[in-house]
Amino acid sequence: MLTHKHLLGLENYPSKDIQAIIDTAFQFREVLDRPIKKVPSLQGVTIVNLFFENSTRTRISFELAQKRLSADTVNFSASSSSLKKGESFKDTAQNIEAMKIDAVVMRHPAPGAPLHLTQFIDAVVINAGDGTHEHPTQAILDMMSLQEKFGKLAGLKIAIVGDILHSRVALSNIHGLQSMGAEVTLCGPTNLIPSFVEDLGVTVNSNLDEVMEWADALNVLRIQRERMGSALLPSVREYRSLFGITEERLANHKKEIVIMHPGPMNRGVEIDSQVADGGQAIILDQVLNGVASRMAILYLLCGEKPEDGNA
Ligand code: NCD
Repeated sequence: MLTHKHLLGLENYPSKDIQAIIDTAFQFREVLDRPIKKVPSLQGVTIVNLFFENSTRTRISFELAQKRLSADTVNFSASSSSLKKGESFKDTAQNIEAMKIDAVVMRHPAPGAPLHLTQFIDAVVINAGDGTHEHPTQAILDMMSLQEKFGKLAGLKIAIVGDILHSRVALSNIHGLQSMGAEVTLCGPTNLIPSFVEDLGVTVNSNLDEVMEWADALNVLRIQRERMGSALLPSVREYRSLFGITEERLANHKKEIVIMHPGPMNRGVEIDSQVADGGQAIILDQVLNGVASRMAILYLLCGEKPEDGNA
């Protein structure tokens, strides 16, 4: 039973709830290994996937999770919606509510949009990424993958490398990992690390080799070229030489460092193909765990009643 009705972000989210989601996700992982990968847990529950921003893997992962749980789903993407005809966010939301939907999975370019949505509708709201703010389901699948690899989260040393400034994945991972007792270091170009992060209790170190010596795992982030002006990243070549996870750099550190990436990857920029496809990477485990984590989140939020009924 989770404390909150919605999953909007991991800031101040109870660690016992993160653990409950991860534990449930491991049970659903077993379902995914069966020949018939489907359970009736959410039969009769209707979920809308409301995507106001492009997404491939997160949308597919949620859709698959919903199908595996036998929920009924409707997909709604901004390009095909009446928003293009000038309908307000509130009207769209209220129309969806009128159709008796139980849960909404929403991706939106504006930070805080999922919270805003909770004010208009009664349905459960799950944030699938809101601008540069949070992406809680990604952080949960990342933590599940770390727990699978190391057997625990407390005490792990995790480095998040790259474009922190534009990354909702980074922010949700910082909140989640810290609440689970892991240590977090951020590494990237100074102008891509927002100054407020040091107040969150993380360490910042722009020397990647020092960070790799320290870390148990690296969560490598995509350079979000669509979100930045060219001035922020003058040279891709220079970025790669300072912050790229290259095969040579990984080989220089004579220890196992687990490599993660939320995708989509810019191969040859923040990560080399040999690393992404190599033995230390758990990137495809993350993808599978993403389906299991989202099944757990949907099941715990839509199949059970919350303790307080509040967000
Ligand atoms: C991330 C996102 O959309 O925030 N990707 C994802 O959800 N799989 C990271 C990114 O876009 O780089």
